[in-house]
Amino acid sequence: MSSRAPGRSVTVEAPPNIALVKYWGVRDPALALPYNSSLSVTLDRLRSRTTVRFDPALTEDRVVLNGEAARGGPRDGVVRFLDRVRGLAGLEARASVVSANNFPTASGLASSASGFAALASAASGAAGLALSPRGLSQLARFGSGSASRSIFGGFVEWRAGHRPDGRDCYARPLAGPRHWPPLVDLVVLVRGAPVKEVRSQDAMQRSVATSPFYAERQRALPGRLARIRTAIAHRDADRLFPLVMEECDSFRQVCETTDPELDYLTDTSRTVLDAVVALNRARGRPVAAYTHDAGAHVHVFTLDRHLAAVRRCVAEIDGVERTMVVRPGPGARPIPRAPTGRAGRRRRAAARVRSRRSAG
Ligand code: DP6
Repeated sequence: MSSRAPGRSVTVEAPPNIALVKYWGVRDPALALPYNSSLSVTLDRLRSRTTVRFDPALTEDRVVLNGEAARGGPRDGVVRFLDRVRGLAGLEARASVVSANNFPTASGLASSASGFAALASAASGAAGLALSPRGLSQLARFGSGSASRSIFGGFVEWRAGHRPDGRDCYARPLAGPRHWPPLVDLVVLVRGAPVKEVRSQDAMQRSVATSPFYAERQRALPGRLARIRTAIAHRDADRLFPLVMEECDSFRQVCETTDPELDYLTDTSRTVLDAVVALNRARGRPVAAYTHDAGAHVHVFTLDRHLAAVRRCVAEIDGVERTMVVRPGPGARPIPRAPTGRAGRRRRAAARVRSRRSAG
């Protein structure tokens, strides 16, 4: 961008994801390389929408998150990320970044994953970098590790790789969003979920250094990940659900034995986990699986035919604010710019007529 004219503006929407195999521990902080591979489901309905434009007239990066000028840690994270994009593209210009979520930020619903996946795609596009989806996943992890997986839809694995230079560390899709239509995620939002005090990136390094169960977890992970991958490929809920809970329990054990302890759940979250165990026992087979990330809300996976029963059993628990049904959805995608000029005006007028007709 040699002229003083602003560059093109690029808008991208990206979803959060929920990990079935958790990323927890960084082997190389400078390259953001994890100790272990992880696997997640990209969620529909929820999204971050981010618009980026590099503008040589700006004297500093302008960052607006959910309608307000960002400050402190959240702003610093975005600026650091933009610096990386500028470095890759050989750009000097500062940027304007406007981002909003259609779900509560810092609610424990992985807004950093959707936020940085959207920022990676929008900022690299606005900077003129034509990155492949794999390249985008490699860029996004510098904002937030889990963001690397939100580039893709459906069922996604983030491979830790072995190389010190990180070239074999990237996310890849295992199966698309329509792979297993009856699989649903009942998100159970609990009241009074505490706001995260320690960033996951820092908390996980505390676990690496202090949890006596960290090494044991690392040894068990490759086998568990392979079994989860196979259960997903065969759409085998009887195998998948117990493995998902085993993995979640292992993650929680590591958190609870970290010094100082990392306790993400509330009493209500724990009651939800117990209710899922009790339901499976009563049915004599695994009809549901709980999991949670570094937050108090619980995701309960089940199949459509058990959804009503699962919902009944968790919705009545004291302290559950509400439940939300989400499904595997698409990954990050660019939003075409609204057309301008005469064609745009005509299209917008036609849309107004259509919406008046459907309202009347
Ligand atoms: C428990 O590094 O993605 O959700 O602190 O928000 O950047 P931030 O978190 P991130 O850690 C994610 C940890 C996890 C497990 C997972 O999503 O794999």
